[in-house]
Amino acid sequence: MGGALLDVLQSGAYVEGAAVRDFESGMSEYLGAEHIVSCGSGTAALELALRACGIGRGDEVITTAFSFFASAEAISAVGATPVFADILDDFTIDPAQIGARLTARTKAIMPVHIFGRPARMDDINQLAREQGVKVIEDACQAIGAQYKGKRCGTLGDIAAFSFYPTKNLGGIGDGGMVATGDGRLAVIVRAYKSHGGGKTGLEAARLLGMDVGGELAGQCEATALYDPYKYFNYLIADNSRLDSIQAAALNVKLPLLDGYNSRRRAIAERYSQELAPTPLALPAGDSAGSVSCWHQYAVLAEDRDGLAEHLGEKGIGTGAFYPVPLHLQKAFSFLGYSEGCLPAAEAACARSVCLPIFPELTDDEQAYIIDAIRSYYR
Ligand SMILES: Cc1ncc(COP(=O)(O)O)c(C=O)c1O
Repeated sequence: MGGALLDVLQSGAYVEGAAVRDFESGMSEYLGAEHIVSCGSGTAALELALRACGIGRGDEVITTAFSFFASAEAISAVGATPVFADILDDFTIDPAQIGARLTARTKAIMPVHIFGRPARMDDINQLAREQGVKVIEDACQAIGAQYKGKRCGTLGDIAAFSFYPTKNLGGIGDGGMVATGDGRLAVIVRAYKSHGGGKTGLEAARLLGMDVGGELAGQCEATALYDPYKYFNYLIADNSRLDSIQAAALNVKLPLLDGYNSRRRAIAERYSQELAPTPLALPAGDSAGSVSCWHQYAVLAEDRDGLAEHLGEKGIGTGAFYPVPLHLQKAFSFLGYSEGCLPAAEAACARSVCLPIFPELTDDEQAYIIDAIRSYYR
């Protein structure tokens, strides 16, 4: 890794350099997605995907109540309203709940492949088709997961990924990307991630139906002083680009990703086998046609805090993902949801504990963790 990072330092191209281009093409091949647009974070990728779909004020986007805050935050950030749906036993959004929430204002459905487990994409895509709305996958936890032979992030209209360091493919800082098979959406994402200027900005503005007048080239003469294409802007956009140093680190790790995910799977399978005699509710294995990438191994415990404390005393870190369902977050109190309205998500939030799962976890360390959990219930 050090050599790749040094190369970037010596290149002087720190933002959007050759490493970024290599990363986008490597990712396109890995995912089987025609267009990859890198950006600054998973949150930015969600916002860019929403903007590319033309979603804004007055629109509704149906998403799960059980996710990281950013899934819903991005919907609000573009001016739209998140509409929360409850979850199934495997923590993913319940398609029946989506159906019940579709309105004339619904512009998109945003399933989250939570903990690396693919959402029920066939049902979700069918609902979206019937309603004529977009499907925006939050694949931030799901790089390498598969559904019916395709990678998560290639199953809807457009998808967002995160390369936050703890993700299955983690950078050495923040990073993200948008994946899509739709070239028009990709142009709009490229424009929005970098100030909406130049030829890309013009093309994006036109695709968004804005009246931007004639050809860019006719608007001014090139001079020796500045690039006329660069300093004409068509959208109020953003600056969310991937640093070359992140891309270089991700380029080193991408060929190792499937191996990392296999190791996560082996760890998950061992937990499921050896924790079966405990009172914990263990995560289901893969349903037909879907392959989780095991971003988290979440169990449900009646006495979550007691278990976490017991493990903490033995030096074992756990996470309560997620302690608060999105519809009950203070930031969304203006939406008027009350306790009890999405019971499955609320129950999961009250009981879930995520056990250590990462490729570097050794067999001995996992044996120690399993032993510590069993001793709690003895
Ligand atoms: C489901 C989900 N969506 C969105 C995000 C946001 O990604 P980032 O932290 O890169 O902004 C995350 C990251 O934790 C996530 O887990």
